[in-house]
Amino acid sequence: MHEFNFKDNELYCENIKVADIAKSVATPFYLYSYKTLIDHYRKIKTAFRPIDPLVCFSVKSNSNLAVLRALVKNGAGLDVVSGGELYKAKLAGVKAGKVVYAGVGKKHSEIEEAIEFGILFFNIESEEELGDIEKIANRLKKKVNIAVRINPDVIPKTHRYIATGKGESKFGLDFETAHKIFNSRWKYPHLNIRGVHIHIGSQILNAEPFTTAIRKVLEFLKSCKIEVDYFNIGGGLGIVYSIENPQTAKSFAKSILPLLKKSKLNIILEPGRFISGNSGILVTKVLYTKRTPRKTFIIVDGGMSDLIRPSLYEAYHKIVPVRVRQDSSATAERVDVVGPICETGDFLGKDRYLPRMPKGSLVAVMAAGAYGFTMSSNYNSRPRGAEVMVIGNKFYTVKEAESYKDLVHGEIIPRILR
Ligand code: LLP
Repeated sequence: MHEFNFKDNELYCENIKVADIAKSVATPFYLYSYKTLIDHYRKIKTAFRPIDPLVCFSVKSNSNLAVLRALVKNGAGLDVVSGGELYKAKLAGVKAGKVVYAGVGKKHSEIEEAIEFGILFFNIESEEELGDIEKIANRLKKKVNIAVRINPDVIPKTHRYIATGKGESKFGLDFETAHKIFNSRWKYPHLNIRGVHIHIGSQILNAEPFTTAIRKVLEFLKSCKIEVDYFNIGGGLGIVYSIENPQTAKSFAKSILPLLKKSKLNIILEPGRFISGNSGILVTKVLYTKRTPRKTFIIVDGGMSDLIRPSLYEAYHKIVPVRVRQDSSATAERVDVVGPICETGDFLGKDRYLPRMPKGSLVAVMAAGAYGFTMSSNYNSRPRGAEVMVIGNKFYTVKEAESYKDLVHGEIIPRILR
């Protein structure tokens, strides 16, 4: 459930008409609902209440400071994967003890920053990385917590680009290597190797791959007599984009709680999309309608540089007119909704049935709150649009639209070329 609903043929975000927001904010822009964001965070917290897990929101899904701050204020921890995300996490006021840090390629400077801040855990992804963290911890005279990311070799039914827990993926360590690391803990006097971590993929619709992976890890810990006190089960919960019927937080918890309870480990979850996905939309405006002998294109002012998921994964996002008209033009026709970028792959939706949309009509691309703005770019030298959040009866610009000047920030023409 989310707070983007039609009332009298008008799309609202909570209690505010999206069209009213677009009167003062230029399109394209991202629009977030605070209430939806917090509701989804609470859904996870409530479903898992019996084990009181630490829920670390995955910053990569939406790293806007207001989004992070809203979640942190409501008790969330954060899952980061770079120095930049850590920097934003700090600005959002997160407690160091609620930050976990994953990623296969942590730079030394990033490791140092995270140690200095005093994060809860590094989720390590290779033996070399472990050795490097030991050296850095030694130099800084700090004791550092480590969880070993295990690749449990399970097949989550999702897009191949976002499956991370299969044996051939670059993420995590196989059981044998993990065992070796646990057996050689003595080699790392500055590290407390006290947890295991998995993240098997994203947009996973049922609990089965999770239960398989969790079982495999728990059996591994038992068979090797490895003692840890934390188990980070990652993120990956799927959401509704079109006709999916994903598990709810409640049914997900029902499937895995028995296993987790029995393990007696402290549990960490890292949901991203589940919390932010349905909390945001992309609002864009119709520029032109182009009819060719083969197709009709609705050309809008938002494209793959704003939301790359359709182009990159052929992901489906529902596209709806912000104001549904009741006259004869309401008859739906089959169209491709495309952006202004010079790429054939620049589309937001293909073969959609939409009513005629006059120049200037607003269109909403739904479920764009996760991996929307965070994966946007300046391709074709297009300044990114604003991010706006509805909180209560007001809306707030939580990131200003970029200007042309922002596009050249840091660029230098060498004197020799002047
Ligand atoms: N934890 C780790 C270690 C991760 O790598 C990820 C996502 C998450 C948690 C959060 O996963 P979520 O709950 O959001 O599924 N750009 C793709 C998704 C890539 C996910 C990368 N890792 C997309 O737009 O579908």
